[in-house]
Amino acid sequence: MYIDIKNIINELNEEIEFLKQKVTHEPKLISLVVEPDPSTLSYLKSQKRSTKKHGINLEIIESENLIDDLSHYNQDITVDGIFVARPLAKGYSELDIARNINPLKDVEGVSLFNIGSMYYEEELFIPCTAEAVVKTIENTTEIRGKNVVVIGRSTTVGKPVGILLLKRGRDATVTIAHSKTVNLQEITRKADILVVAVGKANFINKDFVKEGAIVIDVGINVLESKVVGDVSSDVAEKCEVTPVPGGVGNVTSLILIRNVFKAALDKNI
Ligand SMILES: NC(=O)c1ccc[n+]([C@@H]2O[C@H](COP(=O)([O-])OP(=O)(O)OC[C@H]3O[C@@H](n4cnc5c(N)ncnc54)[C@H](OP(=O)(O)O)[C@@H]3O)[C@@H](O)[C@H]2O)c1
Repeated sequence: MYIDIKNIINELNEEIEFLKQKVTHEPKLISLVVEPDPSTLSYLKSQKRSTKKHGINLEIIESENLIDDLSHYNQDITVDGIFVARPLAKGYSELDIARNINPLKDVEGVSLFNIGSMYYEEELFIPCTAEAVVKTIENTTEIRGKNVVVIGRSTTVGKPVGILLLKRGRDATVTIAHSKTVNLQEITRKADILVVAVGKANFINKDFVKEGAIVIDVGINVLESKVVGDVSSDVAEKCEVTPVPGGVGNVTSLILIRNVFKAALDKNI
């Protein structure tokens, strides 16, 4: 069975409308891009559509020096939010962004300050995809006491999902697996909730899951010109699974829009 994310989308749209009423200027988002590949260009096209729909002024800047540009837009008072397109070009790391982006404009929730606050159980701007995963689980099932397995330990997805689910009040028991994990199948078969953020098409099949588990498919892969997740379709025969496309990715995009309005609201005087 596939998980219906309509409720989450409606809730986010309502939150965005609420913020829109309060923001007194047209929010401005800067998207910095270095040497874009075809997947980045296609992402930016959809970002253009969604920002236009929500009345956000988007400027896409082809950056020659990401650190200098971050420093420039950090200080530009006309800019509310800054987004950095992935994959990052050679020579840059996630840590470069984390160290150099102004936390007040960090609508993706990747700055050292925002990540550090999350570690102390404060949720300011948190990584958008991780928030999307947590919202989707909260909307589907009770988390407290559940055995959650997250496959993937990236800074923007796997690790923050683990931290957010461990938070007091959510109270999951969390296992984070990665490429060096031994006996992955044995671990995933014990999960009440399985989050898959690996980036390999059809990586998880029905032999990896327990009957009735909730499975959150974060993966976005292109297979024979079609977008597919990390979870193969047979898993939906045994579990409740988020669809790809049309699942976590849609929630993530709206969270980014919501964050631009949040950042703009903080600048109201
Ligand atoms: N839906 C959305 O909004 C959204 C947003 C961001 C990303 N994504 C998608 O989510 C996926 C993951 O993204 P990411 O940025 O987290 O990717 P990433 O940085 O490449 O991380 C992938 C993780 O998977 C682990 N892994 C790789 N092979 C494995 C194996 N055989 N067994 C167990 N673990 C394995 C890696 O382990 P090691 O650490 O040991 O290498 C790593 O921790 C990608 O498909 C990406 O496109 C979707």
